[in-house]
Amino acid sequence: MSPFRIAVFASGKGSNFQALVDAQLSGALGGDICILVCDKPQAPVVELAAAANVDTFVFQPKEYASKEEYERNIAVELQQRGVELIVLAGYMRLLSPSFVEFYSGRIINIHPSLLPAFPGKDAIGQALAYGVKLTGVTVHFVDGGMDTGPVIAQKAVEIKEGDTAEVLAERIHHVEQRLYSEVVSWFAQRRISLNGRNVTIAE
Ligand code: GAR
Repeated sequence: MSPFRIAVFASGKGSNFQALVDAQLSGALGGDICILVCDKPQAPVVELAAAANVDTFVFQPKEYASKEEYERNIAVELQQRGVELIVLAGYMRLLSPSFVEFYSGRIINIHPSLLPAFPGKDAIGQALAYGVKLTGVTVHFVDGGMDTGPVIAQKAVEIKEGDTAEVLAERIHHVEQRLYSEVVSWFAQRRISLNGRNVTIAE
């Protein structure tokens, strides 16, 4: 059987991308990361992809007339490689409704809070400012909204007295990196099914 083919979209540091690459190398991912899509040519994740020998499609949105135009280019790259799952890992750009519709059920995202709490930007700062005692990590399907798609997996992370955003972010990132690889491996094993908003993971 041909390997389960994965695209990772990222804009930044790439700690989740690297964790996915490491899981692939150890055999735990059960799939093949065949392309990194990145909208920031200077992002550290681009170098991580080069070091891992992963193909990249790096672009600058302002060089295209519209979102539809650069997304058409992305779609061509994905189709050429037979991508089955799009994994958003800190991709800080909303996908257009037509792109999300086309890949419906095949795009997932990781977000650093227990959704539906604290969607959008700076979820860690939002949780600290609100004063919650528990936050966490959510992996979810991407739909047309901002962090609103069906939840696939969640893990709680305690907020401790005196936590700064940096300390809490480090604790959250650690949890993210383990959870995301596990969830992607469930997809590679074709164990995930979606019924309305309810996600089931087969044993
Ligand atoms: C991660 O914490 C991820 O949850 C967050 O961006 C970070 C990327 O870190 N994504 C969002 O906030 C999406 N709304 P990384 O580049 O080190 O993987």
